[in-house]
Amino acid sequence: MVRKRAIYFAVCIAATGGLVMSAANYLPTQVPTTLIDFFQPGSQPNGDLYEEFVSSNNCMACHEIAFDDADLFIYSSWQGSMMAQAARDPLFMASLVIANQDADFAGDLCIRCHSPGGWISGRSEPTDGSALTAVDRDGVSCSVCHRMVDPVFNPVTSPPVDEEILAGIDALPLSPGGGSYVLDSLDRRRGPYNDPVPPGHLWNQAGFFNTSELCGTCHDVSNPVFLRQPDGTYAVTPLDEPHPTGNKHDMFPVERTFSEWLHSEFAKTGVDMGGRFGGTIPGGVVSTCEDCHMPALTGRGCVDPAAALRDDLAAHEFAGGNAWVQDMVLNLYPNDNINPDNIEAGQAAAVSMLQRASTLEVTQAGHFLDVRIINETGHKLPSGYPEGRRMWLNVRQFDAGGKLIGELGYYNPLSAELTVADTKVYEAQLGVDQAISDATGIPVGESFHFAVNNVVLKDNRIPPRGFTNAAYQAIGASPVAVVYADGEYWDDTRFRLLPAATSVAVSLLYQTTSKEYVTFLRDANNTNDAGDVLFAQWELTGKSPPVRMVDEVSALAPRADGDFDADGDVDLFDFSAFLDCVSGPGGGVSPPGCAVFDFDEDDDVDLGDAGLLQFLTAP
Ligand code: HEC
Ligand code: HEC
Ligand code: HEC
Ligand code: HEC
Ligand code: HEC
Repeated sequence: MVRKRAIYFAVCIAATGGLVMSAANYLPTQVPTTLIDFFQPGSQPNGDLYEEFVSSNNCMACHEIAFDDADLFIYSSWQGSMMAQAARDPLFMASLVIANQDADFAGDLCIRCHSPGGWISGRSEPTDGSALTAVDRDGVSCSVCHRMVDPVFNPVTSPPVDEEILAGIDALPLSPGGGSYVLDSLDRRRGPYNDPVPPGHLWNQAGFFNTSELCGTCHDVSNPVFLRQPDGTYAVTPLDEPHPTGNKHDMFPVERTFSEWLHSEFAKTGVDMGGRFGGTIPGGVVSTCEDCHMPALTGRGCVDPAAALRDDLAAHEFAGGNAWVQDMVLNLYPNDNINPDNIEAGQAAAVSMLQRASTLEVTQAGHFLDVRIINETGHKLPSGYPEGRRMWLNVRQFDAGGKLIGELGYYNPLSAELTVADTKVYEAQLGVDQAISDATGIPVGESFHFAVNNVVLKDNRIPPRGFTNAAYQAIGASPVAVVYADGEYWDDTRFRLLPAATSVAVSLLYQTTSKEYVTFLRDANNTNDAGDVLFAQWELTGKSPPVRMVDEVSALAPRADGDFDADGDVDLFDFSAFLDCVSGPGGGVSPPGCAVFDFDEDDDVDLGDAGLLQFLTAP
């Protein structure tokens, strides 16, 4: 209620004129929505029905200590992962506020994935997360995951009791995603094995724990406030009704990590990655999310020395790209029993994942440098959360004396500003169309208003092995403002070399979030101090420092100026290659490959470029 009044107040001031609101503080009109608009099938909140979710601390005693012949630290690894911090994450808390401001009750949707224990127990209201308890702050906790029931009963791999549980659910999830889960109302822990040792708590073997569908439950995020139209646009659904089709592919796509994987070669056949991922997995063939994110190792599943020694235990690393937010969490929650060593190990695991996520190939072609990034992951690179997340190429050129003479994709660590105009930035950019702009006052185009965004303006993130345009179009994950051919799981970028450069250093960098996003979350917040808390922490913790994923330093072959065909001499062939491309001023797009002659970068090859050509070919 307070929130609503605040908005009304702001709108009044704006309407009565006088006060000029800065773009940053400008407050959009809320899109009217109710809890029903965010309804998802599966288990529904009911504090009486669902036995409390046991604190993860409780699991530590038995599922932690390793023996001399074992190196499995389930609890520590989990605590160092972002899933354990999903409901403490100040970046999440700050964006949760904006979601509630933009669409009433939107926070309910967020909390069901970021703190499922709190959500199912009825503590997601108020939807700002203020009712969540210390145990709820364990986010995606041990108990939550291990009480998840496969929503599709499998007579072979599901525990028999699941059939009865599923029969009691009014609406079953149509497909993995949306945080649409079925939870066992009793504390019966499911796991992958048939344990010989009675674990001292109720448990069941469940094949669900070897599937990506378990992860897909939360790693496909869609906004049910929108319905995909025949022309591919997304329109607001009727007020106070569940989504008309309930099909995630008809909702606005926010994250598609699971679907990206489902339509990759990893899901279809598995891929031999030569030991890059998977730990001790025999043969090195990886397929599921678990194969890469919970690598196999040798050990015992618990402290009981009688437990079986297995060589296919799953490490609970859940490492992705995030190696920064954990620092803010440690600062903000000194009393939550978070062991800094666990956090540090989790961050190291994330950096290691980032370093294994791609292969970099650098080739010189005369005056140009061709940079290829190959995606080695099981989904887009990067995948997942779109706002503020990015990856970019940094190219530094040195002269014979080793002096830096030019840098493309320069990032200033002090100001956290990235020069984007002269390099390639891999990212998704979402925004609003005219209809949403009319309804909210948010200007048409790029926007960070997660809950009401309804267009994808850019998505040049690199697809995984097995990518096809048709399949990705169907899941709402088409490349946008870029073309990837079917089967392409790499991306090429051509840079022009400086005449004096004799060596070059190329790096691919990853950043969890941008300065622009953090600043937005501070300035758009009209409700509480979550945006200020985030901003202050961002400044204290290195401003989301970029992580170097891959680097390569190459010596450059000597090149004759004007040797465009890179055959070691400057002759008529080089000149005629240029002439073939001349299209005249404003002559529109030249034939493919001609962009290399557009020296003045005005999108055509004309006299202006001929002038520069002379300069390049001068002795
Ligand atoms: C995101 C879901 C998730 C969370 C959170 C999670 N687990 Fe697991 N756990 C799994 C999956 C999936 C497997 C099986 C993976 C495989 O076999 O590839 C597993 C396996 C296990 C096993 C069998 C031994 C092993 O390592 O394979 C135990 C015991 C276990 N988990 C306990 C825990 C405890 C204790 C916590 C919290 C500290 C926890 N889990 C948190 C999903 C989860
Ligand atoms: C008193 C000790 C104890 C505590 C506390 C405990 N467990 Fe266990 N748990 C065991 C033992 C022993 C096993 C059998 C492991 C084996 O044989 O490999 C087991 C097995 C499991 C399995 C089955 C894994 C599989 O597939 O074999 C899961 C899942 C699990 N525990 C989850 C949890 C969770 C979640 C918690 C905390 C909420 C927890 N446990 C707390 C002792 C404990
Ligand atoms: C109950 C919902 C839920 C389930 C089930 C779930 N996740 Fe997550 N996962 C999340 C949320 C929420 C986050 C984001 C936490 C944050 O950054 O605030 C996350 C984060 C992650 C990250 C870190 C991402 C990064 O940016 O670094 C990885 C990796 C990950 N999950 C893998 C998995 C895998 C593998 C499984 C299946 C075994 C799984 N998740 C199951 C909700 C879930
Ligand atoms: C072949 C190995 C592989 C498979 C299979 C795989 N991942 Fe990943 N994943 C990675 C690597 C490497 C990274 C780190 C690079 C990055 O952050 O994109 C990553 C990153 C992530 C992130 C962080 C997103 C980002 O880009 O910032 C999430 C979330 C995630 N994975 C979830 C999943 C889920 C869910 C599945 C299954 C549906 C899955 N992954 C399957 C290798 C894999
Ligand atoms: C269907 C489950 C689901 C829902 C619903 C959901 N999230 Fe998430 N969220 C995730 C997962 C999974 C990730 C991790 C993805 C990754 O890191 O690539 C994530 C990541 C994030 C992140 C990035 C955190 C970080 O540290 O990098 C933010 C911020 C966030 N979510 C905010 C929200 C808000 C706000 C809402 C509600 C409007 C919401 N989420 C709804 C599953 C969900």
